[in-house]
Amino acid sequence: MKIFRGYNAIVTGASRGIGTHIARALAGEGVHLALVARSADALEAVRKQVLEHDVKAVIIPSDLTITAELEAVVDKAEKELGPTDILINNAGVEFAAPYEEYPVDQIRLDVQLNLLAAMLLTHTVLPGMLQRGRGHIVNMSSLAGKIGFPYQTPYATTKAGLNMFTHSLRAELADTPVGISVICPGYVDDFGMFANRDKTGVKVPKLLKPTTTDKVVAAVIRAIRKDVAEITVNTIPVRPITLLRELIPGTTTYIHKMTGNTRFIRELLAKASHKKSNS
Ligand SMILES: NC(=O)c1ccc[n+]([C@@H]2O[C@H](COP(=O)([O-])OP(=O)(O)OC[C@H]3O[C@@H](n4cnc5c(N)ncnc54)[C@H](OP(=O)(O)O)[C@@H]3O)[C@@H](O)[C@H]2O)c1
Repeated sequence: MKIFRGYNAIVTGASRGIGTHIARALAGEGVHLALVARSADALEAVRKQVLEHDVKAVIIPSDLTITAELEAVVDKAEKELGPTDILINNAGVEFAAPYEEYPVDQIRLDVQLNLLAAMLLTHTVLPGMLQRGRGHIVNMSSLAGKIGFPYQTPYATTKAGLNMFTHSLRAELADTPVGISVICPGYVDDFGMFANRDKTGVKVPKLLKPTTTDKVVAAVIRAIRKDVAEITVNTIPVRPITLLRELIPGTTTYIHKMTGNTRFIRELLAKASHKKSNS
């Protein structure tokens, strides 16, 4: 879909991290923004920044794990800006622990935020998009959704769900003017768990070298413009690795061992628990 000045977008997870960069990039295209996350002050700071692009922007502080708030988010965005042309389901929570120790509430949270909120927001905006004959939805998944991730089992599960949600709905929407895409970044240099490892001294797996936020944002914009189904944002060796896993699912464990990913996350967890027990 062409991105025209004056289009309206809802961006979730817009208070920090990758979401703030997506918001700025869309504002740079002249898109009006509804910025969604829980932290009102941080959203307001992002709102002030995007106003420099001469767009309208509203903040919608909201907890997307509360189902009742989801329709209200779309309602408020559309009352303030007008119909939604672009929905970016970016809000996500990342947690790591051995599965048997993964808190039950955290499992529930992962599913509610990473998967269910994206599905329900899409369900709310889709009828209007179909009626108006335009719209694009972007789901922020992860490499974890492509190859699984040890010690991040619920997280990876939600991201794999997001991938199949996208591809199933995309097939359904094939003959309509509404598009849907999924972005699968590997570790991102600047934000999240990978960025936090800096102070730990844990050796990074060479094959899973991090990507950058700029590349993730560029993928989002390209996905909308070219209606791309899925974009994996990572270094070159990652693509054959994901392909190998698709062809021979039994290689998953080997892939994580061979790339050093299992060791990497295990060592990060060990450092984190060491820090906790020393504090
Ligand atoms: N960083 C990476 O290495 C990486 C790699 C692959 C994929 N991703 C995906 O990219 C997306 C953004 O990641 P990030 O690294 O930018 O994460 P981040 O810095 O932790 O930001 C997460 C965003 O989600 C919002 N959020 C969290 N819980 C929420 C809730 N209950 N309701 C509403 N909003 C909520 C946060 O705002 P509040 O706390 O203010 O609510 C924040 O704006 C996520 O979906 C993540 O899984 C990240």
